[in-house]
Amino acid sequence: MSDSNMPPAPFRDLQALLRELEQEGQAHDAAQSEHRNKRLNLEAPTARLLQLLLLSGRRRRVLEIGTSNGFSALWIADALRRIPGARPLITIERDPARAEAARRNLARAALDRWADVRLGDATAIVAGLEGPFDAVFFDADRVSAPGQLALLLPRLEEDVLLLADNALSHPQEIAGYLEAVERLPGFVTTVVTVGKGLHLAHRIGAPPATRPARAD
Ligand SMILES: C[S@@+](CC[C@H](N)C(=O)[O-])C[C@H]1O[C@@H](n2cnc3c(N)ncnc32)[C@H](O)[C@@H]1O
Repeated sequence: MSDSNMPPAPFRDLQALLRELEQEGQAHDAAQSEHRNKRLNLEAPTARLLQLLLLSGRRRRVLEIGTSNGFSALWIADALRRIPGARPLITIERDPARAEAARRNLARAALDRWADVRLGDATAIVAGLEGPFDAVFFDADRVSAPGQLALLLPRLEEDVLLLADNALSHPQEIAGYLEAVERLPGFVTTVVTVGKGLHLAHRIGAPPATRPARAD
């Protein structure tokens, strides 16, 4: 086996791996003239906010649409491993080389058991997912997100958090998704001005059944 074919050594210091991927991703993307060849990883502050929201909301069934090489998947998997009762992240990527890179990076951080990387077109894969999900992160091509959301609706828990990146950087492309979310009853929404703009939509579940008030 040549050196280039050797699997990378396990990299158990997650923060160091995240820093490495962040710097490498920025250098890689700066050198690419074609958008489709870029990795387009989340900015670290956005990834940290995403992780904090998953942790504080104790999200246990998370779906990510748009894996790239697994940068955000590492943050999400690292949240899920700490949440009691959580299932592994399902994350979808249509580019085989990126999906493979994501699996490799998750294995390097010993987080591979916390993320299931599915290769293929997101809409086709979403149509076959059972769910239910209590958090969905939309980070692929923004134009197919409304269709994916429609497919997911019956498979969302009442208490669900929807997240989408690029709300500020690509307002026209994401408009269809934002309109689709605004039409749904029961959601509160906002855009956080972090990175490229993180859109959040939360629907709180019905309150636990309460005893009828006593007349006396
Ligand atoms: C913005 S990048 C994802 C970045 C990743 N979430 C991160 O922070 O590391 C978008 C990725 O979605 C993938 N993608 C775009 N459209 C897709 C689709 N319809 N189905 C599956 N993957 C798709 C692209 O190949 C690309 O790798």
